[in-house]
Amino acid sequence: MAVAQAVNPFHEGLQLQGMTQPVQLCIFGASGDLTKRKLLPAIYNLVQAGLAPQAFSVLGCARNDLGDDGFRRELVDAVAESSEIRVRDADLLKRLTDQVYYTSLDFHDSAGYVTLKTKLDDLDQRYHTCGNRVFYIATPASLYADITEKLHESGLLTPATSQSFVRVIMEKPFGHDLASAKTLNAELLRFLDESQIYRIDHYLGKETVQNILVLRFANGIFEPIWNRRYVDSVQITVAESLGIEGRANFYEETGVMRDVIQNHALQLMSLVAMEPPTTFDARDFRDEKIRVVEAIRPIEPKDVNQVAVRGQYGPGSVEGEHVVGYREELGVAPDSMTPTYAALRLFIDNWRWAGVPFYIRSGKRMPKRVTEIAMQFKEAPHLPFRKAQVETPEGNVLSLGIQPDEGVVLKFGAKVPGPSMRIRAVEMDFGYGETFGAEDASPYERLILDCMKGDQTLFDRADGVEAAWSLVDPVLSQWAQTPAEFPNYEAGTWGPAAADELVQRDGRHWRRL
Ligand code: BG6
Repeated sequence: MAVAQAVNPFHEGLQLQGMTQPVQLCIFGASGDLTKRKLLPAIYNLVQAGLAPQAFSVLGCARNDLGDDGFRRELVDAVAESSEIRVRDADLLKRLTDQVYYTSLDFHDSAGYVTLKTKLDDLDQRYHTCGNRVFYIATPASLYADITEKLHESGLLTPATSQSFVRVIMEKPFGHDLASAKTLNAELLRFLDESQIYRIDHYLGKETVQNILVLRFANGIFEPIWNRRYVDSVQITVAESLGIEGRANFYEETGVMRDVIQNHALQLMSLVAMEPPTTFDARDFRDEKIRVVEAIRPIEPKDVNQVAVRGQYGPGSVEGEHVVGYREELGVAPDSMTPTYAALRLFIDNWRWAGVPFYIRSGKRMPKRVTEIAMQFKEAPHLPFRKAQVETPEGNVLSLGIQPDEGVVLKFGAKVPGPSMRIRAVEMDFGYGETFGAEDASPYERLILDCMKGDQTLFDRADGVEAAWSLVDPVLSQWAQTPAEFPNYEAGTWGPAAADELVQRDGRHWRRL
């Protein structure tokens, strides 16, 4: 295996190119789950890969009284426990822990920000980071505006010199609905320029998600058929076998629509449906991506039941294990109306996609974890094999596997060897892992690095998040007004019966994954 990798010509160029300036990274919400599971492993990996700058330090802050030692232990534990670490190097980890600090901060307390500034200025001197700062706000969205205002008041958002930069990364969901996202954008823009704001959606940092663009725009053969003349329908699935993993507080407020559909799923849809941008710089790329979301036919309140289905899992069995229903999860209300599953039937009202349905579904406690986009092509207009036995029930499908099977599969009909004419579905299969022989960098690595480099391409813009909220808002308000009959799907199944009907009404069915 090692030999095969060494001679693999595709291996070159896989390394992320690092051109980062000195920088200090300050994480708000440093004692939280995201920091431990994703951010600290990503920081270690960046340092290990030589992609973080030489002049670099990390300061975590949260309300808890962790202290430098406590936060350093979190880093060591995070690296020990994470499955995303590619190379474990004890010396390097030791060196990194020496660059990591912590300060307790009540996010609402102005005085605390004065101490924070002193600490950051101090570290800036010590690590020669030239006043360059990235703030990673990994707190609930309800705190973003207040934190930003306090950072501003304490002078932390003002670059120290004309050469230095201050950037702010914010987690999704960005807002709770359209109105709150608009308010939040307006509040942030009082203190920050749009060029300083990095709204993160980690799906855009996934290699396989970026490959959608390469497949479409670096090859001449797909674009001519990537439209309503040849595509019958598109299915986007973001299925998880996991439940809510102890995040009841977050999930009860959020639900699948805000957690996955408004962001991750719509990002996938916009990449698969966008027009080719002139270049991949942040403006061109985001202009085209947002144009797609804006062209999705708005959902009228009266049509919500026709185009949207919600679900909540009851008890069941997932991957051979019995699991409780959503309402029995710790911290969830026994009569909770929070949806853990949603399916939508959408249309893009533009020249390329007029009349092509996009079916989107996402749910927790599905039979397995799988994210894919499937382009279903129209049938051949005429089959000249009159007596042929055709065993291609699905026709031509191009499926883009995002995870865990990462790759591209084209399904088409082939002749079964023998004297009679039998046609069976076969697959041309490209697998990422086998071809490139390298483990993907985690999306957080890529996105933190991009922010340090000042590249906003893979981050959301204010108008982008607002367009996505505009689309889902009518569904959310309709659902909030009408109680649902929950639970309506068993854990370990593919969602409620109504989701099947949503596609069956059009004479189609969900793909079996
Ligand atoms: C997060 C959601 O944004 O994405 C989680 O908050 C979800 O609920 C996760 O599980 C899925 O991400 P991934 O990368 O595991 O598909």
